Amino acid sequence: MTTVDNQEPECKVGLEEKWLEAHREQLKHSELPEQLWTTLAEKVVHRIYDAGNYIEFHRVDSPLKRCQFQVVALNSLEEADDLFLVNHIWNFSSVAEAHTHLHDENIKGLSSRIAQIFDLDFEAADSQCSGKIEAEIIDNLVHFAFPHVIRSGSETLQEIYSVYDELGSRLQFAENKDDPKLNCKFISIFDVMQQRFISVIFTTRRIEAHEELKRLPAARIEHFQAQKSYWTDRFDTEGQCEWLASYSTLKPLIEESRKCEREDAQVIILGCGNSTLGFDMHKDGYPNISSVDFAENVIDQMKVKHGTGSGGLSWHVADLRALPETEFPCSKFHFAIDKGTLDSMLALGKQGWINPNVNFEDLEDETWVKAISAAQKYLKEVHRILLPTVGVFFLVSLGSPEFRVPLLEKCNLEVQQIKLLEPQRQDREDDEAKLKLKWNGQYHNKHIYICTTAKPQ
Ligand SMILES: C[S@@+](CC[C@H](N)C(=O)[O-])C[C@H]1O[C@@H](n2cnc3c(N)ncnc32)[C@H](O)[C@@H]1O
Repeated sequence: MTTVDNQEPECKVGLEEKWLEAHREQLKHSELPEQLWTTLAEKVVHRIYDAGNYIEFHRVDSPLKRCQFQVVALNSLEEADDLFLVNHIWNFSSVAEAHTHLHDENIKGLSSRIAQIFDLDFEAADSQCSGKIEAEIIDNLVHFAFPHVIRSGSETLQEIYSVYDELGSRLQFAENKDDPKLNCKFISIFDVMQQRFISVIFTTRRIEAHEELKRLPAARIEHFQAQKSYWTDRFDTEGQCEWLASYSTLKPLIEESRKCEREDAQVIILGCGNSTLGFDMHKDGYPNISSVDFAENVIDQMKVKHGTGSGGLSWHVADLRALPETEFPCSKFHFAIDKGTLDSMLALGKQGWINPNVNFEDLEDETWVKAISAAQKYLKEVHRILLPTVGVFFLVSLGSPEFRVPLLEKCNLEVQQIKLLEPQRQDREDDEAKLKLKWNGQYHNKHIYICTTAKPQ
């Protein structure tokens, strides 16, 4: 199967050269071997999508949507001998924009095309995108949408997300760069003539007939952290990740803000993930630690890894926005610790979750309203389970005070202190950078908000 568009070829000969000229600098910085540049120009100008002549898709069993197909060579392919174009089917710049596109009648057939790529059941009768299919599409973006940055020199002009055609979406990832299964590269180029991204797959070694094509893992979209599937998928493969700071860094501040004896403290870790914080605190003399996360798989893993520590360590699957009262009664805890969890709930939109200039009262975007309302539900639950007067909410966050303080105070959590995390000794040579976390090209401070409970107004 080859698709070629049918405009007059003679006009396009010159176009190929022009295209090559316009993209020479980008190509020099790409990893595409020079011997393939003219083939690329020819395929782009003539829009030749001919991968179907060389590969096929095999359906395989996998719990992960993105892994239910393999891209397999029909016959052997030589190293850097040919390339295949990958179409970017859908580009959007935020989850909110993705929702808007799905409802836009001018973008005909988008939902059915995307449902096809994501392998979702889409009823042909559904000419409009139904709520259910829309929710499934949005939920699956975490597996199928990839970030691209449009730059001018070193300046980032725009970040967009793309969903590729079947070839790009079904091409699986090798483990790492040393994986012997790695056999092709995936690169993206911004086509300055047509003002769109195009992606290209080319072989990096000989591929045998019937062998699966595999590329290096791509960057993940952190902006989708607000969704549970992002986390369960991540915990399927991630061993341990300590967000923002370890217990040894936080320990002095926890000691300072604690309002009861260590032995008496009922501690809750909110959104524990696979961090060792709860376990480390328990070892350090806190007998009662409850850890909560909505990702069932990570709670199962943590139970196996750390056990119950003579009964004092307990592990709970629950959504922090609606904690069951039987398991989490009112006024139970002395200490509630959040390390990166509130941030992840606010990571639905673009940059706003840590952008100091965003005023949450002014947010009109529908996705933002959802994120803020989720965060408020959560913080009200924190208030409910903390003991009045002695209860402390200890929040470790990248969010700046301009943004976090009004949100906390709206939920009756009174901010007593805000601390900036100190760099550790071995990081001294790069103090400025270590005080802050680099995200989206900018450094952001790591803050600790120490809050007590106020009476609800
Ligand atoms: C950025 S990670 C931080 C993990 C851990 N606290 C650490 O410091 O490494 C955010 C965690 O919050 C959890 N989470 C996010 N939203 C949640 C919710 N609504 N209910 C329960 N857990 C949630 C995620 O599953 C994830 O484990």
